Amino acid sequence: MKICFVVRYALLAGFAGGAGFLATQLLAQDAHFHNAPAASAEQNNPFAGQMAGASAGAKLYAANCAGCHGENGQGTGNVPSLREGPTQTVPEGEVFWFITSGSIKNGMPPWNSLSEEDRWRIVSYVRTLKNSASTSTPVAGEKYVPVKTNAPPPAAPFTDFRFEEPGKVRKISTDTLPEPYATDTSNNGPKLVARPDGAWPKTLPGFQVQLFASGLDNPRLLRTAPNGDIFLAESSSGKIRVFRGMTPDGKPKVSAIFASGLNRPYGIAFYPPGDSPKWVYVGDTDAIVRLPYKKGDLQASGPAEPLADLPHGRGHWTRDIQFSADGTKLFVAVGSASNFDDPDTTPEEKNRADILEFNPDGTGMQIYAYGIRNAGGGLAINPHTHELWCSVNERDGLGDNLVPDYITHVAEGGFYGWPWWYIGGHQDPRHAGKHLELKEKALVPDVLLQPHNASLQLTFYEGAQFPAEYQGDIFASEHGSWNRAVRAGYEVIRVPMHHTGRASGEYEDFVTGFALDNGHVWGRPVGITVAPDGSLLVSDDGSNSIWRIVYTGN
Ligand code: HEC
Repeated sequence: MKICFVVRYALLAGFAGGAGFLATQLLAQDAHFHNAPAASAEQNNPFAGQMAGASAGAKLYAANCAGCHGENGQGTGNVPSLREGPTQTVPEGEVFWFITSGSIKNGMPPWNSLSEEDRWRIVSYVRTLKNSASTSTPVAGEKYVPVKTNAPPPAAPFTDFRFEEPGKVRKISTDTLPEPYATDTSNNGPKLVARPDGAWPKTLPGFQVQLFASGLDNPRLLRTAPNGDIFLAESSSGKIRVFRGMTPDGKPKVSAIFASGLNRPYGIAFYPPGDSPKWVYVGDTDAIVRLPYKKGDLQASGPAEPLADLPHGRGHWTRDIQFSADGTKLFVAVGSASNFDDPDTTPEEKNRADILEFNPDGTGMQIYAYGIRNAGGGLAINPHTHELWCSVNERDGLGDNLVPDYITHVAEGGFYGWPWWYIGGHQDPRHAGKHLELKEKALVPDVLLQPHNASLQLTFYEGAQFPAEYQGDIFASEHGSWNRAVRAGYEVIRVPMHHTGRASGEYEDFVTGFALDNGHVWGRPVGITVAPDGSLLVSDDGSNSIWRIVYTGN
């Protein structure tokens, strides 16, 4: 279905400017992959249908591409997945063209140094990823050579995986940010290995980490239903799973598939608010859909009903969703298509890098807040203040310690800088001189995190298990960096709220130990929610499992 987006937010219409606005709208409809020239679509792959081409391509891919796009093209941090999305659907000639040209400003190198044949072999290989298993299951006990780093310890407030430690409090303030390009930009994606014997997530004394579920298929966002069932998005295979109950040793009693056949589902929300929701809303990558639901259902009683199209295509694909506390508005986070393309001149960025707002029936789209590069990984409603909060992936390519990711409450109509400004009035040098009138408008987020952390889902702790000091605090999953010389993230953090409903700018390492060395990791936190017994559940799409953090007091 097609829905006409009416942008009522006057400012945004102002950016695009009168007649040009219509023109860009039209352009958006038949744009080629990364603006590939029309002729590129006509070029045929000389290795079409030949297994040998794809297998040679696999080796070239491993050597040249896997560091950023991941072993299996699953994407990492802010680098797009190649196994899903436009790379799998546009003409092969356009993919070939883009690999050849690259996009240096967005962090994708040109590959014209490889022979034309090799580039086609890579295209052949990349197209085989579509139907292969979504993540290679690393082989247990497989030997690997640790990647050492001699980098000096990072200067506070910045840190990296070597110095992450449960309980360590950190605070990044705007006056501690380095200049752009203070260090080179890095290509340091992780190689995933099986969890080595004896490796286990670490947390604070008094807490314990248990394995809740394993063998999952790309587990992503987690959300607790009003009746205590735990919903999980298994995004790459299009499923929503539901867990019920807990055995004495902390495993789910029931695991069932609630819905399947969805298009990269991520966000999950229950509507209407209260104890008896009638629908489960899902943020697919390209639409908001809802499934009929009544308390206790382990399987949706009907098909997904599409309510509204969402901007989609390349780039950030996750769409977290949340209802306002009174249930009158549905918030949907749609991340940018690119690292920092200018929305004034890039039709694909229309209504992206925004938090959108809809009526619960999918009508009435408006922009709630903008200039937010990607909040698609996590939205939450603060149970005390009823404000919307988000967890944001900021941009790459400006050096190791820029730009901090962040967690913040979201001001209605608020502008958070992307792509012209960052963290308040710091101008992105790649947009020097543009939109000076927005400098004063650009808001400083509440809590700055380590740059390139890839901060994903966040949740407010309202459980009855952790000590009283944790009441109302935020916990968030940090998926981990690729654009940093020494990796950071790969942890769960706590944002203390000091019982005030507001953040002080500090955050604390809470669960660490997923990164092994500067080349290898075995786990990557994504989703996070509070179980009915007050334990914290964390999904991990590195080891395809869910971890449970319990407070034992000893
Ligand atoms: C230094 C990291 C890096 C390396 C190495 C790299 N890429 Fe990329 N690639 C990126 C980034 C970042 C983007 C997003 C660019 C953009 O949005 O314009 C991207 C985008 C792409 C896209 C477009 C995907 C989409 O959905 O829009 C394709 C296709 C692609 N890369 C293929 C490759 C291939 C094939 C290789 C190896 C020959 C490779 N890349 C190596 C970082 C990298």
